[in-house]
Amino acid sequence: MQSDFEILISGKQIAEKVREIGAQITRDFQNRELVIIGVLRGCFVFMADLARAIDLPVAIDFMEVSSYGDDLESSGNVKIIKDIKDPIHGKHVLLIEDIIDTGHTLNFVVDHLKLKNPASIGIAGLLIKKDKHNFRGKIDYSGFDIADHFVVGYGMDAKGLYRNLDHVAIFRA
Ligand code: IMP
Ligand code: MG
Repeated sequence: MQSDFEILISGKQIAEKVREIGAQITRDFQNRELVIIGVLRGCFVFMADLARAIDLPVAIDFMEVSSYGDDLESSGNVKIIKDIKDPIHGKHVLLIEDIIDTGHTLNFVVDHLKLKNPASIGIAGLLIKKDKHNFRGKIDYSGFDIADHFVVGYGMDAKGLYRNLDHVAIFRA
């Protein structure tokens, strides 16, 4: 059967939201040493756009974790594939996530980064499945609350594909 896509958030809506979030971060982190850490691979489009919407000197680092395999639902068993490269001790960290679904990944990544003693850890997520996630912390910057759909595009994939769509679409296999 042919896969089915329904546009949920257009590229233009995303671009406006990213500009707003970038301006907010710029105001909030004046005179602070800010490191933005992306959770690969889904973060790569959001992070590239958001980083350029932040008008501050900002360091960039990445982690890669895996919890999905090829499934459409998180296994809850999060593994680190790649850790951040530079020390974050005493720095202000902002974690960049494409989507917060169950919240398992963020719970794990935040616990992991806390052990490295940053001055603070904030969260920026483009999409939040608000009624579903059980992330323990606060989501400081969020783009859009969405219902419990599986979505693709703007960095997000289904079985490795569709990350390069400039919009977010609901995906039905
Ligand atoms: P969580 O641990 O369930 O919050 O989800 C963590 C990661 O799974 C997200 O950062 C995404 O990379 C991926 N993910 C969760 N929901 C979706 C979705 O609807 N489409 C594509 N990827 C998703
Ligand atoms: Mg992700």
